[in-house]
Amino acid sequence: MMSTNVRHIKSIVPTHVVLEGGGFKVRRPVAMGRLMSPFLLLDEMGPVNYGPREAIGAPDHPHRGFETVTYMLSGCMQHADSAGNKGDLNPGDVQWMTAGRGVIHSELPHPDFYESGGLMHGFQIWVNLPAKDKMMAPRYQDIMSEALPIVESEDKLIWAKVIAGKALGAEAIIDTVIPITYIHMRLKPGAIYTHECEQDHNIMVYAFGGSVNIGQKSVQDGELGLSSPGESLTLEAGANGAEYLILGGPEINEPIARYGPFVMNTREEIMQAIGDYNNGTLA
Ligand code: FE2
Repeated sequence: MMSTNVRHIKSIVPTHVVLEGGGFKVRRPVAMGRLMSPFLLLDEMGPVNYGPREAIGAPDHPHRGFETVTYMLSGCMQHADSAGNKGDLNPGDVQWMTAGRGVIHSELPHPDFYESGGLMHGFQIWVNLPAKDKMMAPRYQDIMSEALPIVESEDKLIWAKVIAGKALGAEAIIDTVIPITYIHMRLKPGAIYTHECEQDHNIMVYAFGGSVNIGQKSVQDGELGLSSPGESLTLEAGANGAEYLILGGPEINEPIARYGPFVMNTREEIMQAIGDYNNGTLA
């Protein structure tokens, strides 16, 4: 039975290459406002091959009002924050950092990686928080790759790492403030995967290898496909297979006031965040 509840791709957003911080190359789809809600930013960091002592990162900086989620594919970062958390992010690891009312942190190449150089590749995604949670106590989930659920289809054509939400019967271990889907998936040629989802969530697919067909549309490497509402999304591998993220969550239908690393609802709240940061009470 054909169902109107099958999603299709309503628009495809290309990525722009931007230089972040001290010249860190990222691919960033530029979709404005509610289209990407509850996500504020999606950055594919690299892939970039650093020579010895070339790798760069972000020294101490603040955040308030949302979450930053870092997922490494290659390379090694080291982070430390004002709450005393400190750790390494190795390939496959995820750091889900809820800034809430305020965190000051640094995200730098691991000293060993900095010395040796090598391939750096990963994602940083910003997840917005609803107004009622923006000032929550900061929370930090640092999850090693081995702890994250990985599933494969019986025929080995589909591989998935479940960072948030559910896929192929596996459920994420990371706890999210609002229900988020964050799946890293690879399809070999010939594979077809149907993702069940909440009818009204915003669901999007970011391809970073090969291409994936959804209905009549194809999402290519470096493109973000935004889907229509519906209860399922069927993804079919392109001729050379596909590697992509499935991202989703409820739309947060609230005003956004944004200034650099602060994302609040009003200009007054932004002024408050800047004031708190300047007088040392943000974190
Ligand atoms: Fe940060």
